[in-house]
Amino acid sequence: MITVAVPGKLYIVGEYAVLEPGSAAVLVGIDRQVRLRLTRTTSAGPAVRTITTSHAPGRVIEFIHRGTGFVPVSATTADAAGLSHVLAALEVVDRYAAESEHEPTGFALDIDSQLDDPGTGRKYGLGSSGAVTVAVVRAAARAYGLSLNPDMELKLALLSVFSVDPHCSGGDVAASARGGWVYYRTPDRAALTAALARDDRSFATLIRQPWKHLAVRSLPPPRGLSLEVGWVGRPAKSGELVSAMKQAVRHRRSAYREFVTASDHCVDRFAAACRDGDDRAVEAALSTAGRLLRGLATLSGLAIESPDLARLRCLAEELGAVAKSSGAGGGDCGIALIDPARAPILWRRWRAAGIEPLNLRVHQRKGSIG
Ligand code: PMV
Ligand code: MG
Repeated sequence: MITVAVPGKLYIVGEYAVLEPGSAAVLVGIDRQVRLRLTRTTSAGPAVRTITTSHAPGRVIEFIHRGTGFVPVSATTADAAGLSHVLAALEVVDRYAAESEHEPTGFALDIDSQLDDPGTGRKYGLGSSGAVTVAVVRAAARAYGLSLNPDMELKLALLSVFSVDPHCSGGDVAASARGGWVYYRTPDRAALTAALARDDRSFATLIRQPWKHLAVRSLPPPRGLSLEVGWVGRPAKSGELVSAMKQAVRHRRSAYREFVTASDHCVDRFAAACRDGDDRAVEAALSTAGRLLRGLATLSGLAIESPDLARLRCLAEELGAVAKSSGAGGGDCGIALIDPARAPILWRRWRAAGIEPLNLRVHQRKGSIG
């Protein structure tokens, strides 16, 4: 049996701007994970796959290999929609494996996500789609006996998420693939799609080439600050917010460009401050990133920092900490960087205000590329 565990993520700085090719964000991989168990199976006829998930206990979704790919036997449209990232990742690995003449493999795949609350089914916005994509690419590649280095694995996972949502940045994939504190710069997705559309370009060629703009670098964590995470009790749909943002800034291109440029500078300052071990500069950059997002909210008319996220931030600021919304905003989580000695007081104040402090830590990191 192949088992894989991949961390979820949280955005620290650079949200929205990181959607632009060449722009960057800093994220962390966290110690809540998506776990996969893959058991290879053999069948007399065409290869068969089954998928089970912790989201739908007892439900087994079956696929059979026909022609050039796996087709659902028992999957409903709703199943397929719920599994879009899983199926996209499988398709990418299948195509990559087929290029090197591997026979389609049959297996039973079981997906267990700790990123949402299993008891209540609450969604915290900890990046389950990015994590599940990395996990499926890793497990399926092992099932085929393919050896992927971290750079190739990341690129296959990015191609998978871009095929589901051509507008996402892929930052969540980078954080889940690497863990720890991660600086991520978004590749030129249009150039990748164009390269793939050209007949002569295989996945194997594409993932061995450098990708314009793409960078993933591990950062040292801030020295004396603790990252605290509060959940405001309301799930947010990042995809919808991103689409609404695109619409809203269509006629405000130059102001939006200014936001992106300022965000890029801020992310660079944040990363440099981590490398220099300068916690005061880390705090300053986080606070600027939050202010830039509030400016973007005014520009676009979208509530990135919802009233409950503003409350989360103000409570942290009253204790001398810095805080901001994390990710697309509108709900989910906010983050604070605080003197660890004061974290218990912050937790108490957040709780009293109806904000749930999440007991999670940054997942340990691996190497860096780019
Ligand atoms: O809300 P989250 O944690 O999924 O973050 C979304 C971050 C955006 O920059 C708004 C979108 C993206 O794909 O990077
Ligand atoms: Mg979110």
